[in-house]
Amino acid sequence: MDVGLAPSVQLKERHLRVRFGSDGAGPRWADYHYRWLRHFCPCCRHPLTGERTVCSSEIAADVKPLRAELDGGDLVLEWKEGGGSHPSRFPLEWLRDNAYAPDREEMSPPATRVEDVALAMADLGDGFAATSLERLARDGVVVLRGAGEDTERLIGGFESRGLAVIPTHFGRIEDLRTDNTTNENTDQLGYTDAAVELHTDQPYIETPPRYQMLHCMRRAERGGDSSVADGIHAARHLQSLDATAYELLTTVPVRFDRRQKAFRSLQIRPIVELRDGEPHQVRLSYFTYGPHRIAFDLLEAWYAAYARYVAILEEHAIRFSLNAGDALVYDNHRMLHARTPFEGARWVRGVYFDTPGA
Ligand SMILES: [Fe+2]
Repeated sequence: MDVGLAPSVQLKERHLRVRFGSDGAGPRWADYHYRWLRHFCPCCRHPLTGERTVCSSEIAADVKPLRAELDGGDLVLEWKEGGGSHPSRFPLEWLRDNAYAPDREEMSPPATRVEDVALAMADLGDGFAATSLERLARDGVVVLRGAGEDTERLIGGFESRGLAVIPTHFGRIEDLRTDNTTNENTDQLGYTDAAVELHTDQPYIETPPRYQMLHCMRRAERGGDSSVADGIHAARHLQSLDATAYELLTTVPVRFDRRQKAFRSLQIRPIVELRDGEPHQVRLSYFTYGPHRIAFDLLEAWYAAYARYVAILEEHAIRFSLNAGDALVYDNHRMLHARTPFEGARWVRGVYFDTPGA
C-alpha cells in the first residue's frame, strides 16, 4: 500500500518522501531533495528582518539528515553541522503547499535476486532454448542450473531456435581460464584471475554480439562469483532521478578503443544509445576506453553522470555463483556482467550468439 492513512516519512538516498496521509486535500505524497530541505530550513532567518540567512551554495551536494521524524503536524529533521547538530522543523502544510514533486511516481530500481532469473535445466528439458529466449526478452538474463558439461548441446539448442554462433577475434568458443591455450588474442582480463567489473562485451565493434553464454566447466576454489546488472533499466532509473545525467550519457560519445597486441578496433558512441527516444543499447567497458575527448565544459558533469550510473548498476546487480554445469546467458545490448577475482583453476566457456539478419 503506497499511501497510508497516517502521515509518514521515508529517507531515500538523496531525497525524502513525505506521505501526507489521506485527508483528500492536495498531493498524497511528495519528494524533497535533502539539499532543498536544508536550504529552506524555516528557522534559518534573521531574527529582526525575517530574511533567509542560508545560501544554497554553502550546502554540500550530498547533505543528508541524521534523522527524520514526524512530530504532530511537523516534519523534524536533524542535520550534522560543525561539531553539533541543527534541527529543522517544517509544518507539513507548508511542505504540501511548496511541493515541487507532488505525487511523483518512482521508477523502481532493477531486480536484484538471482532466484528471479534462475531456472533448473531438469525442468526445461529440450525446451530450454525457447524458454531461455523468452526470459532473455523479458529479463535480459537467464541462469540455467544443472545444464551439464556439453557446451555443444547448449549451442545446438540455441541454433535450433534461430540463433547463430558469432565468432570474435578470440575465436568461436572462449576458454576463460588462466592457462588458456585455445584462443587467439589472449591479452585480456577474461583470461586472468583478476576482477572484471561490470561491463558490456565488444563495445568497440559496430554491432556487438547480442547474447553471450557463459558456461561454467569448473568453479574457482575461492572467488570467481558472477554478477549481472540491467543497464537499460538502470538508465531509465537514472533518468527519473537526474535528467541531466541521463542526457549526457545518452548523447556524449566516448571512444571504445580496443588495443591488443594483434587487434585494434574503435567505436565512438554514447554509453547508452537511444532508438525512437528510448534507451536501446548499452556500451560500457572501463578497460577499453580511449582518452575521453569530451567538451571541456561538459567533462566534469559527464564524469559525475557516469559515476552515478555505475553506482546504480553496482547497487542493483544480481550476484550469484556458477557451479560446474551452470550456464549464464545474457543480452549483451542490455545487461552488464562482472566476475570477482578468484583463486584456483576456474574454467568458463564463453560463446556469443546473434540472430542472423537482425
Ligand atoms: Fe565480458
